[in-house]
Amino acid sequence: MLRISLKALACALSLSVAGLVQAEPIIIKFAHVVADNTPKGQGALLFKKLAEERLPDKVQVEVYPNSSLFGDGKEMEALLLGDVHMLAPSLAKFEHYAKAIQIYDLPFLFDDLAAADRFQSSPEGKALLTSMEDKNITGLAYWHNGTKQMSANKALREPSDARGLKFRVQASRVLEEQFKIVRANPRKMSFAEVYQGLQTGVVNGTENTWSNYESQKVHEVQKYITQSDHGLIDYMVITNTKFWRGLPDDVRSELAQIMDEVTIEVNRQADELNQKAKRTIAESGKSEIIELTSAQRAQWREAMRPVWKKFEDEIGVDLIKAAEAANQL
Ligand code: LMR
Repeated sequence: MLRISLKALACALSLSVAGLVQAEPIIIKFAHVVADNTPKGQGALLFKKLAEERLPDKVQVEVYPNSSLFGDGKEMEALLLGDVHMLAPSLAKFEHYAKAIQIYDLPFLFDDLAAADRFQSSPEGKALLTSMEDKNITGLAYWHNGTKQMSANKALREPSDARGLKFRVQASRVLEEQFKIVRANPRKMSFAEVYQGLQTGVVNGTENTWSNYESQKVHEVQKYITQSDHGLIDYMVITNTKFWRGLPDDVRSELAQIMDEVTIEVNRQADELNQKAKRTIAESGKSEIIELTSAQRAQWREAMRPVWKKFEDEIGVDLIKAAEAANQL
């Protein structure tokens, strides 16, 4: 009798302990390298807000902007180790995990963000989101930042103006080639080091979106920014596959729904945020903004396009064709 009631007590205790364990919210650490007032920064904060509103007591999202938890170079490893649960690296930062994703770095690939959208929502674009699951990385969404501009302490109007300059690039071989082909010297550098790298002259040029220039004050250490729109900075929001699949079904499906809603909002606002940043830079008077003529832009396109050939085997000719097709409505 006594044995039975002890057993019952133990059972009741373990149930209440399980209940307590379940009551602990799941912590989701979301780290990124940019400022809060950028498309990605805003997206991460909106994801936190909606997740905590709709899954109260179940989920808590901690957002770490500005490389404050992990920066470039460390964040992927941290995701795989489970030290962080969500990241949104620029699409230029996946070359060690999926060669096909290098497609997004090809210069002058998309005519505009709408074309990038069409490709990302095509079967080929969506397949890239799940292409790293064998490496324990699941892509949940694409988020836009926007088109890249080029800057230096020298006015960049024609490809020959870039000759001999030292450009900071993201960790991407395609981007290295893009600058080598105009006889400039690319240098891979993490995002957190860009301002100092330019200030101290380790590099004297770079490329990025208006929102990244403005929020990092890069325009204060670059005399000229050329509106070249020569490439794309977009993101893949990623999570650790095992972590994601291990979430309770109701939590995972609600988070996936929230991610879809946040994606629509990020992509709706991205261009607006970049145009606002461009105006702030123009008004600051710190950096002169150069608008290219269509003939000058055509020269850059012609100079940089041969980069495609070099990477077409790694990326896949059919994938490149599918992306180009997205330029036609
Ligand atoms: C960069 O490193 O220049 C960007 O990819 C940073 C970012 O995440 O927008």
